[in-house]
Amino acid sequence: MGKKEPPRNLKQALKGKLSRREMEKLITSFDSLGDIAVIQVPKELEKKASLIGKALLKLNKHFKTVCMVAGEHKGLYRVQPVKVIAGKRSKKALYKESGCAFLVHLGKVFFSPRLSTERKRIAGLIKENEVICAFFAGIGPFPIVFARHSKMKKAYAIELSPQAFKGLLHNISLNKCQNIVEAIKGDVKKVVPKRLLGKCDRVVMPLPKGGENFLCEAMMALKPKGGVVHFYRFVERDRGAEQPLREIKKAAKELGMKTRILRKKKVRSFSASKEQMVIDFWAKRLK
Ligand SMILES: C[S@@+](CC[C@H](N)C(=O)[O-])C[C@H]1O[C@@H](n2cnc3c(N)ncnc32)[C@H](O)[C@@H]1O
Repeated sequence: MGKKEPPRNLKQALKGKLSRREMEKLITSFDSLGDIAVIQVPKELEKKASLIGKALLKLNKHFKTVCMVAGEHKGLYRVQPVKVIAGKRSKKALYKESGCAFLVHLGKVFFSPRLSTERKRIAGLIKENEVICAFFAGIGPFPIVFARHSKMKKAYAIELSPQAFKGLLHNISLNKCQNIVEAIKGDVKKVVPKRLLGKCDRVVMPLPKGGENFLCEAMMALKPKGGVVHFYRFVERDRGAEQPLREIKKAAKELGMKTRILRKKKVRSFSASKEQMVIDFWAKRLK
């Protein structure tokens, strides 16, 4: 008699353990953060969460922990609650991306591996000796990937959350880029006027919910010769870039600046009706 083939995916691993209806609801994709997997478990399957987690552990031997998403990103610090459903009860992951390492304390700070392509894309646009400002820096993925993959002169990384700021400092030293990434603790609204007016060639603003309220600060941080802003925003799928373009125009008018749109691009789907976009634009003060 032939040996039973081991399951090759989550559906196969859960065959006979979930009903047909449950199987239809099962979400098989997950995020990998080092040895932690983070998976969405639909409400109807919550009682089976531990079963799903254990199946995922068995299937992917490099995972030590499986967490389930336990709510939306919340509050000013954009933290998403997660719950351990199988394996070691740890929420601290060592995540690697583009040759950089990040310590991520899940459930305490924002982090998304899904923006890795964006970080590499922007790093590729940075010219030698540019000064960058990373607004909403979190635990540092944008400025740290820039430090490794560009010839920038320096990046200022601004973060408000005490937990994320601690992670940012840790990750800067973990990646040995203290000489070019300077972490600044505080609110972008206060830090820019106090320390960064007219100092930067490029500003990255990865706060897709609410980032529009910081467009003036982004443009104020640009050098007098002008510079580039990368503006992330959730938009209604059927309205595309309409709203962010209007917001850029309004902020530029307020500050007396001229702008030129360089690129508008979908970053990822967010929900049935919304997607995340990035608008790259150039801006300079009018004479
Ligand atoms: C969506 S997260 C992005 C974090 C990081 N850039 C990343 O991609 O992983 C936004 C971050 O901005 C921080 N934040 C929110 N409002 C802020 C403000 N006014 N000034 C500075 N940081 C802020 C939050 O604490 C959070 O860590």
